[in-house]
Amino acid sequence: MKLIDLHCHMLPGVDDGAKDQKMALKLARVAVEQGISHLLLTPHHMDSHYMNHKQDVIEKTAVFQSILESEKISLKVFPGQEVHLTGDLLDAVLEGDILFMDANNRYLLLEFPHNEVPEYAENMVFELTSRGITPVIAHPERNLGFQKDPDKLYDFVKMGCLTQLTSSSYMGVFGKKVQDLTDKIIKANLGFVFASDAHNFEGRRFMMREAFERLAEREGSDVAEQFNLNAKNILNGEDVNVDDIKLVSDVKKKRFFGLF
Ligand SMILES: [Fe+2]
Repeated sequence: MKLIDLHCHMLPGVDDGAKDQKMALKLARVAVEQGISHLLLTPHHMDSHYMNHKQDVIEKTAVFQSILESEKISLKVFPGQEVHLTGDLLDAVLEGDILFMDANNRYLLLEFPHNEVPEYAENMVFELTSRGITPVIAHPERNLGFQKDPDKLYDFVKMGCLTQLTSSSYMGVFGKKVQDLTDKIIKANLGFVFASDAHNFEGRRFMMREAFERLAEREGSDVAEQFNLNAKNILNGEDVNVDDIKLVSDVKKKRFFGLF
């Protein structure tokens, strides 16, 4: 199975990911070894540290693609952004300075503030979904607000969001609690794709191959295939099925009763 990675900080010199072209090419080679064939470049945008405007990312991605080709690295890259949730997001969308995950401007990779799910998030999601935009919540398993109250994730999926889980979270890199939460989100059918969020080689690695293997072992190969198909559908701006979603707390209860 050729994998699709929808969240990666490989574009050189634009954020806290690959610091230069040499490191970016090294990361690209590892991505190919991992079985990744298509990769969305998602530098941080509108967080407190980085602004990576749409046109800049498009131009830099085209340059990077041609470097990959001249280096004979068989990886197709697409321009994207990891868009931070702020009160200014809707204005940025309306001004056209936002890169979506697909060419049809349907899916938006949305990062919530690390410490919380802000009060205004629901309103913003409503404003986006009512304009035909589907937010894909980046790594909810690493957000303190969702960690405190995982059932909030159910509410956001009900409101029309999808979620992107981090492959390394599923492999335990961020600790047992984050790994357990990732497991539960998947069992509640509230997880839709894995992405690496790879930055460099110090702890923020791809682990995509490993995560897909673990997913196939634990949930079945059909679920693993569905995750990768969901990623493809997002990249192509096509429908992703949301089916039989459960509260994360119900997953826990089910396990508990299973002990007796
Ligand atoms: Fe990221």
